[in-house]
Amino acid sequence: MHTLDLFEATEQNLDQRLGPAAIVLRGFALPDVPALIPALDIICQQSPFRLMVTPGGFTMSVALTNCGAQGWTSDRRGYRYTRIDPDTGAPWPIMPEVFARLANRAATAAGFDDFEPDACLINRYLPGNRLSLHQDKNERDYDAPIVSVSLGMPARFLFGGHARNAPTVKVPLHHGDVTVWGGVDRLRYHGVLPLKDEPHALLGSQRINFTFRKAG
Ligand code: SIN
Ligand code: FE2
Repeated sequence: MHTLDLFEATEQNLDQRLGPAAIVLRGFALPDVPALIPALDIICQQSPFRLMVTPGGFTMSVALTNCGAQGWTSDRRGYRYTRIDPDTGAPWPIMPEVFARLANRAATAAGFDDFEPDACLINRYLPGNRLSLHQDKNERDYDAPIVSVSLGMPARFLFGGHARNAPTVKVPLHHGDVTVWGGVDRLRYHGVLPLKDEPHALLGSQRINFTFRKAG
């Protein structure tokens, strides 16, 4: 094995601490993938992926949908959580048990007990799509952590500080990795670099990300 292979193997298998209360749990979601994918398909039939517009008037490259009691939306009037999908006029699809349980177990593994998310934002990245640095701060309180599940193509996640211009670390995220941040790290800036086209065996040329929050 070359040194590089060894490094990559290590990087993919070991949990990685990003802060006092932030960690990447490598492969944590893998056992749930066979249940997550069909559940995701049903969600997308009810509330399809769509491109949202930011308050500044830009169309986001990453396509979004939601499941759970609260869904994150954006339009010219701002970012907010709604109980109704503005595109369908119906409530967001119910959060599947397998989603909620995975998020709860990952939070526990990261040191946050009793995490009961009421919102799961689902992001779909195609090659070239990126998510610029931002804080997750539309939630009512910041006691609960953010639990973020990566599926499909790999991404380079940026994890920064409490100011937009603070230094960032570049974290490779692979299919099945779960990132959790809360506590003192809850409001750290984060984003995703433009996705390379490295098709995934199961999901092809896309990356799916679930971001679980306690919104309300
Ligand atoms: C997000 O911050 O909403 C998504 C992060 C990711 O796709 O990994
Ligand atoms: Fe975010």
